[in-house]
Amino acid sequence: MTRPADASFRFTHAICRAPAASITRGLRAVDTGDPDLEPMRRHHADYVAALRSTGAEVTVLPALDAYPDSVFVEDTALCLPEGAVIMRPGAASRLGEAGEMAPVLETFYARVARISDEEAFIEGGDILVTGREILVGRSARTNARGIAALERITSAWGHAVREVRTPPGVLHFKTDCSLLDAETILATPRLDASGCLAGYRVIHTAPGEEAAANAIRFNDLVIMAAGFPRTEAAVRAAGFRVKTIGNSECAKLDGGMSCLSLRFSPKGPRG
Ligand code: GLY
Repeated sequence: MTRPADASFRFTHAICRAPAASITRGLRAVDTGDPDLEPMRRHHADYVAALRSTGAEVTVLPALDAYPDSVFVEDTALCLPEGAVIMRPGAASRLGEAGEMAPVLETFYARVARISDEEAFIEGGDILVTGREILVGRSARTNARGIAALERITSAWGHAVREVRTPPGVLHFKTDCSLLDAETILATPRLDASGCLAGYRVIHTAPGEEAAANAIRFNDLVIMAAGFPRTEAAVRAAGFRVKTIGNSECAKLDGGMSCLSLRFSPKGPRG
């Protein structure tokens, strides 16, 4: 199936969720202190405004206090033009977040698929949709059964899935890379060294700026976390329009720009 080359970064819609006060209990690999809710809310508002500035319709769901990490909506679903797939997060405290997203996506999509295998785990942060394939990183949150379940659903929609590895000790595959256009990926040197991005044009994060790798291409903007000037300059030098957003509070929970939204252009009866 041929798709427009820009379908992987042109979006009519996004969904975000307001940060909950319980975010102070959010998961983190290393404790560098709790996120501070007020700057977190300001950064989140800036992020939503940046998405909206591209002309997209952005839905901001109410905070879910029962789920401290629920601001990171990307992990709850994979949104493709043909339909959405509800994830099965591998973090036990996050499993219920996906069920909260399903009815929201049903208002946009005629097809919302669920993974029935209870041994399957997969989080959206481990999935990178490029102009030609869906890369899925096996990680501490995403297992082989989760990838197989996703492949069964999305192959019927004409998408090719390729299993890759999220580097050890890295939360998600997209912690270390982002799509900049259909064929260009911003990545850490450690991820690129694995060879999984062979065939793509790769721009490396600058030494010491590995956290800049989690960015998003959203319509005409590349939205990057603020504070990584050498990587930002490299992305600008490659011809991209960059908007930076404060990420100090999300970063305490290993979160970045991709984690904060579901981005999609649904097609079909509700699209
Ligand atoms: N704090 C984000 C996550 O661990 O899922």
